[in-house]
Amino acid sequence: MTTKDLLFANNRAWAAATLARDPAFFDKLKNQQSPGYLWIGCADSRVPANEIVGLLPGEMFVHRNVANVVVHTDLNCLSVIQYAIDVLGINEIIVTGHYGCGGVIAALEQRRLGLIDNWLRHIQDVMRRHEALLAPHGAQAERARLLCELNVIEQVGNVCQTSMVQEAWGRGRDVIVRGWIYDVADGLLNDLGVRVGRDDSLALTQERALLAAAERARVRATAR
Ligand code: CO
Repeated sequence: MTTKDLLFANNRAWAAATLARDPAFFDKLKNQQSPGYLWIGCADSRVPANEIVGLLPGEMFVHRNVANVVVHTDLNCLSVIQYAIDVLGINEIIVTGHYGCGGVIAALEQRRLGLIDNWLRHIQDVMRRHEALLAPHGAQAERARLLCELNVIEQVGNVCQTSMVQEAWGRGRDVIVRGWIYDVADGLLNDLGVRVGRDDSLALTQERALLAAAERARVRATAR
């Protein structure tokens, strides 16, 4: 079977199984989507957004890129955030990183991979900003784990600072931005304790989450 045949056969089987479970499934979806969440995650094949939170097509709006980075000049990501807030009316934005992120590790190790090095500069900026938190950890694995968490906390801040979120808050919308991390080793999501709403101080929330991440890293290092 060719790759194309395999994927088409899988698709036919999936559509049939979905219809068998709910004969009206596609009829309900064909005219509109009304997802409750915007997920900003890594493009990594091991982190399939809908699947790991048990949501069906139509329930979550998804944007993925290498290392779940939110850059203020990335028209792609910004358009997704604007569409999610203004058109779909989504109030829950979740930035989800993952441990073992190839993009984060490449940035940490200053690997030369090509064009993507430019994208990963943003992770290196996170690294430089939090060098004091990373410095106590000599072990590369621990530095990578901590940097994956710090990156999510920083990207949550970037989402909050977009003009779309700022304006939505200004209009009184209850948009909430959260930061989670997924562990590819056990399939579990972890809350990084960063949750920012209209009335919260982003700086304080981030500071607390950064300190908590550093403390978890310290505990892991002493347990080793
Ligand atoms: Co990744």
